[in-house]
Formats: sequence, C-alpha cells, structure tokens
Amino acid sequence: MTEDDQKQAAAKAAVAYIEDGMVLGLGTGSCAAKMVDLLGERVQAGLNVIGIPTSEATAKQATNLGIKIAGFDQVKIIDLTIDGTDEVDPQRRLIKGGGGAHLREKIVASLSDRMIVIAEAKKRVQQLGAFKLPVEVVRFSAPALMPKISALGCTPSLRQDSKDDLFHTDEGNYIIDCDFGAISEPESLALTLSTMPGVVEHGLFIDYADTIIIGTNDGVEIIGAT
Ligand code: 5RP
Repeated sequence: MTEDDQKQAAAKAAVAYIEDGMVLGLGTGSCAAKMVDLLGERVQAGLNVIGIPTSEATAKQATNLGIKIAGFDQVKIIDLTIDGTDEVDPQRRLIKGGGGAHLREKIVASLSDRMIVIAEAKKRVQQLGAFKLPVEVVRFSAPALMPKISALGCTPSLRQDSKDDLFHTDEGNYIIDCDFGAISEPESLALTLSTMPGVVEHGLFIDYADTIIIGTNDGVEIIGAT
C-alpha cells in the first residue's frame, strides 16, 4: 500500500465511528482531509452532524462538501475529534503542527469527549523528536524567544511559507520549528514551553489521543480505546 492508501484506510476506519447527531472536531492536514472527504460523502447521503474545523483550510473544504460547520458560540462540547499527526509514540503522545494548525487543533481536542488520531505507518515512532517540534509564538516575541528556546537544547528555525516569507498561522502568529532530536521527557518539555511568555502553543499533545488508527500495508491497526 502507498502512504496515500494507508492514510485513506485510516481515515475510512475513523469515519466509521461517526454517528448521526454528533458534533465533530475536524482536523487539519492531508490525512484529516481524506476523513473530511469521506464525511462529506456520508453527509450527502443524509448524515446530520456539525463540524468544528481546526483551520481555515478545513473550514473551506467542509463547507464545499456541504458539511455544516459552527464555532464555540454555537457549540460547547465536541463528541469526537478526528485529526492527523506528525508523530505518535507508544504512549499515544503526539507531535502535531506540521501544517501549522496545532493551536486550534489543541483547543478543539481539549474540548472533545474523544480524540481519534489517524496516520500512515511512518508516523509511528518509538521516541518523539525526529520531527521538528512546532512552537507557535506571538510575532513580537519571536526574536527574543529564539535564543531562549535554543537554550532548551534544540536548533530553532522560524518557519517560512512557500514564497520564502515568514509563515503566519490562522491566528496571525509565527511558528518556530525546534529540532530537539529525540525528546526524552516530553511532559517536562511541554510544561517548560507552556510557561514561556510569548509562546502561544506547542505541538506536543500529551493525554489527548484516546485512539490511534494507523494505516498499514495490511489494513489498519488500532491502538488504545476501540
Ligand atoms: C496540522 C497537523 C497535521 O495533523 C499534521 O501535520 C499531519 O498532517 P498530514 O496528515 O498532512 O501528514 O498537525 O497542524
């Protein structure tokens, strides 16, 4: 199976958890986009759900497919969030934010009864950190934060977009991608980053994912609650 097939298989398995009447957190990225496409097919066949998109890109995709979307002025609790990931370790800890949406993704995950994470096989790692950890920061703080974040033991770089300009998130912030190599203590790093003024959110998701669905060459593997 190609990576694309693995993503499709994981997305299809996750969509089977969606029930009529649910409020859904809709993730961001290529794997999540496959899930949104499949959800769109079910909505067009009569399923009634409300989606809370985690990015402008997902909002646009969902709207184009006829999926009703809402914000937190209309909805307080989310039944189920389905999202992708950049890495997942055996403790179901994640690195997210490759697409720059981890701030909204974490807010949505935190308000969800359940989070299902979908990914292709290569996202499964023994130890987090081969993927550079995205840290969203207030623009004003970025030059001051680079050396402070570097002192935590990483090589930081300000993310650029495809036009070589600085990348802006949906909330108008910058992202510092942090090359830590293997992260031996994700919990303490998460806490340290969360307490730095100017850091809006980092991409470590600890104790969020209830279920991981990995697309493999043989189908899907489900880790955690079924
Ligand atoms: C966006 C994310 C994505 O879920 C993550 O980057 C995975 O994306 P993809 O499925 O395209 O590999 O966290 O902020």
